[in-house]
Formats: sequence, structure tokens, C-alpha cells
Amino acid sequence: MLSQQTIDIIKSTVPVLEVHGTEITSRFYHLLFTNHPELKNVFNQTNQRKGRQPEALANAVYAAAVNIEKLESIIPVVIQIGHKHRSLGVKPEHYPIVGQFLLQAIKDVVNPPEEVIAAWAEAYGVIADAFISVEADMYNKAEEQEGGWKDTRKFKVIKKEKESSVITSFYLQPVDGGKIASYKAGQYISITASIPGEQYTHMRQYSLSDAPGNDYYRISVKKESGTDTTPGGMVSNYLHEQVSVGSELTISAPAGDFTLDESSTKPLVLLSGGVGITPLLSMLNTVINKGIKREVYFFHGALNSETHAFNGYIQDVVKEHSNVKSFIAYSNPTSSDLQSKNYDKEGFITLEDLQNVLSSNVADFYFCGPTPFMKSMYKALGEWKVDPSSIHYEIFGPAESLAE
Ligand code: HEM
Repeated sequence: MLSQQTIDIIKSTVPVLEVHGTEITSRFYHLLFTNHPELKNVFNQTNQRKGRQPEALANAVYAAAVNIEKLESIIPVVIQIGHKHRSLGVKPEHYPIVGQFLLQAIKDVVNPPEEVIAAWAEAYGVIADAFISVEADMYNKAEEQEGGWKDTRKFKVIKKEKESSVITSFYLQPVDGGKIASYKAGQYISITASIPGEQYTHMRQYSLSDAPGNDYYRISVKKESGTDTTPGGMVSNYLHEQVSVGSELTISAPAGDFTLDESSTKPLVLLSGGVGITPLLSMLNTVINKGIKREVYFFHGALNSETHAFNGYIQDVVKEHSNVKSFIAYSNPTSSDLQSKNYDKEGFITLEDLQNVLSSNVADFYFCGPTPFMKSMYKALGEWKVDPSSIHYEIFGPAESLAE
């Protein structure tokens, strides 16, 4: 239990730390990687360069600190982060290391009185314990489940299939020939990629793109080619160019809390942009495989038919299942798209499109896609006054706010 004095110090200093947020977190990561370079194997170095991840971790510590008297109120957030940590192999022994350098960074940047540092050390311990206990439970469940495992396991690629000009699926089976853990539609796995020529491993999360119940996992990966100003995706290019049938990949057991509520009977609205289609396809396939008769609306936005993955498959599903409808928006249709009119709308998916297709805002909404798409869907559903408890989304990359 923290004393009232410690709680008061924490609450009064959170705003001060937030003002110096970026400076503290930059200093923290500098200290962390200088003293523990092996952690570069775990942290996404691309996110580090973009400055996205540093903010996510520090903001979570401050958010937890503000709620230090009622940590149970942030348990949903702890669970979401815990899934990511478990999938990355974060262990109890890592917490004191992070704590040590976070406190050192606060000292270096703000230089507060000793009692403030002592209060933060105590509060960090309480927050870390909450994470450690949630994650211990997750490791146990991952291991105890039939076909499950605790840390990493080797899988081999049994099939590689091009789904569009930019997206390719990889079908994976365990090298040991054993069973695989089931999962919930919407969950992801982490791949630890050992890329030739790279000093450290690179870990990335990929949503499972098929329904559970098969003897393989399928991920569908977009090749991030990069532009003049941004480098290409390290792991996606490796997978597309250097990984083929027979290659082995190191993966962690399925994780994630962006999952389909199968007990709901409300209409199900699946909204995706680009490669964000992957978790939603898993949800669609789950509904179909289980013969669930709820209405399903599959909205998808792509550049055009060349980059649009799984379209033939989705159209077959729509033909065979009267409860499933699809809506396709192309923001940059090709000349042959323009001729054949093989889409419903030129442009982006908007609130008006949702209102035209759906009879009411009472439905379960799940969405995933690039950040601008996510922000616009979040705004649209807010404007339509959709019940917030019916809105579910997954951000590919470090957590960030969708509110503008
Ligand atoms: C991701 C918070 C401790 C390693 C994250 C994220 C948050 C967070 C908010 C982003 C989640 C997301 O994007 O979905 C925290 C808090 C901690 C803590 C509050 C302490 C109480 C640790 C420790 C480690 C660690 C001890 C291991 C050394 C990571 C890694 C990621 C991550 C590798 C993935 C992000 C990336 O690679 O870019 N953490 N974390 N975290 N955390 Fe933690």
C-alpha cells in the first residue's frame, strides 16, 4: 500500500513529467539501450526512430500513476498491453531494468527532490506488479492450452500465396509436428525475424487472417515498400523476398484482445482499410464456419483492384451467404476498374456510406486499417452516436489516440 503522502507527490508531479515527456522518454531509451543493448532484440527499432513507441510506454506509466489509488480501473489497458508484452516475451526480470532507467531519466531531465524520486520508485513498483501478475496469468494460459506454448516455437512455411500486388499470405505449421493452440478471431502472433546481415532480431506482430480450427496459422503481410522519405518495412520485405516454402520462422502463441464477441446477435459491421482486412477476415470466416446467422456487413477500402486482397473470396462468401453483404471503396481505381465498375464507390468510406448501407446504428463495429482510415471511422461512429461499448478497433503499431 502506498502512503497518502506518496500518492499526493505522484499526483502533483505527473503534470510536470508530462511536460518533459519526450525528453524523459528519449533519455530513458538511450540509457536502456546503452546499458542493455540485448533489448534491441525486443523493441521495434523502427518505432523508436519514429518516436512513436517511446510516447506509448511513458504515457501508460503516467496514466497508471494518475490512477494509482484505483489501479483496477486501468486493468483493461493493462490487459491489452499485457497481451503485447506476453507475445514479445517481456518477463518479470525486465521490469526493474525499465524502472531503474525511467527513474534515472527523470533525475537527469527534471532533477526533482529526493522524496519525489522515492515516491516514483514506489509507485513504479506497484504498477510493475500489476503488469507482472496479469502477464504471469497470460503465460500460464498460453502454455496450458492444448497445442499451446509459453515463449517461442519454430514454424515452417507450408504455403505462400499472393493475395494482391502488395499482400501475400504465409501458411505456417509447427516444425515439431505437434498441435497448434486455438485462438480467437482478431488475435495476432509475433514473429522474431533473424534477418541476414542484421545484428539484432526484429519482432513484429501479424494478425491471423483465417478462422481458428485449421491445422495451420495464416498471416497475410503487406510489403511495405517505403518512399523517398520513409524506409521500406524491414520484416515485411524480408518475408516477401527471403522467406519461401520450407523456411522456418520463430513465433509466439496467439495474443490480443481485439476479438470477436461471438455471443452478440446484433448486426456485425467489419470495416477495414488495406491490410487491416486481416483480423476482420478471421472474424468473417469464424461467423461463416460456425453457421452464425447474424447479419454481417463487410466494408473494405483499397487503392484499387490491384492492391485489393481477398476480393474474389469475399464475393464468393457474399454469393453463398445471404446474411453477408459487402461494400467496396476504391480511392484510386485503375482504368479497368473504372470500366468494369467492380466497386461500390470511388473515394473513401464515409459516415454517409455506413448510413446508406446499414438500417441503424445499433450494431457491433470492428475496424482496422491505416491511421487516417482509423481516425475517420472513429469520428464517423462518434458522430452517428454509436454506443461506445459497441466500437472495437485494432491499431497496427504503437497505441495512439484516434480522437482529433
Ligand atoms: C509496448 C507500457 C514495461 C517492452 C508497450 C506499450 C505500452 C507499454 C503502452 C504499447 C502497447 C501497444 O502498442 O499496443 C509499459 C509499461 C511498463 C512497461 C507501463 C511498465 C510498467 C515494459 C518492459 C519491457 C517492455 C519491462 C521489456 C523490457 C515493450 C515492448 C513493446 C512494449 C518491446 C512493443 C513496442 C515496440 O517494440 O515498439 N509497453 N511497458 N515494456 N513494451 Fe512495455
